[in-house]
Amino acid sequence: MEWTGCVAPAKKGSAMSPSAQDGVHPGSPPISRNGLHVAIIMDGNGRWAHARGKSRTFGHRAGAQAVRRTVKAAARQGVSVLSLHAFSADNWGRPREEVDTLLALFEKYLRVEMRRCLGNGIRLRVIGRRDRLPGSLQLEVARAEARSAGGTRMLLRIAVDYSARDAILAAARERREAGAGREDFAEALARVIHGGEARDVDLLIRTGGERRLSDFLLWESAYAELYFTDRAWPDFDGDDLAAALAWFRGRERRFGGLLKTPPPFETVAGKPLP
Ligand code: FPP
Repeated sequence: MEWTGCVAPAKKGSAMSPSAQDGVHPGSPPISRNGLHVAIIMDGNGRWAHARGKSRTFGHRAGAQAVRRTVKAAARQGVSVLSLHAFSADNWGRPREEVDTLLALFEKYLRVEMRRCLGNGIRLRVIGRRDRLPGSLQLEVARAEARSAGGTRMLLRIAVDYSARDAILAAARERREAGAGREDFAEALARVIHGGEARDVDLLIRTGGERRLSDFLLWESAYAELYFTDRAWPDFDGDDLAAALAWFRGRERRFGGLLKTPPPFETVAGKPLP
């Protein structure tokens, strides 16, 4: 698949259609195609805070620190695309105060961290819908994306107001008449979420002890290796990322093919056959 530059026109009226902002930096240089795409469902902020007798807001602030640590660690550890699930379309159902806290944290993150991203060759994209975000956040997103468009070391994608099922529906609407194959469809999907490029997820990490995908990158994770850790997101750091990557490198990925060295037939899950 080639870098698409996010410039193809969307079908009018699509809830997740690309905004005009996507045409601002159509010629961005490609991120390495050889590196890994790691996606993270950052879970456990609330429970982490509760265990310390603190508010959920306290947990989300600590979560923002973990985002900083993890972005830095990911760039150092050779990740080429990092997709973070920060706010799902279903999170609008949380109490207003919590939603406002999260949106304010994203805006601050974009404003403050952008300098660090620029210095480290990190290109930023916010994936998901834009039209329901506060105007000031929309502006910050546009500014951060335009300023970081030249970054080639790592593509950092932060999902805000994101739903994989809505994205698949929007891409399907866009591609309905074109009879698209998988690659075309993946590119349409990347476009409708403002994603920057169509790339399958290699490793999907979920913190916080739950073992589910929560409507995150469902199409792109078709052959992702799934890594679940009980570590709460605010405690996650570069060592945890390194552990997940080491586990990933030990996996034999078959993509529906056959094992190169199949296990002996007489054992299933380590137990002899009856
Ligand atoms: C899940 O924890 C986490 C979220 C819904 C929000 C993720 C947000 C951050 C990590 C904050 C900052 C992010 C950026 C990009 C600056 P939860 O609240 O559902 O935890 P719980 O399951 O323990 O209640």
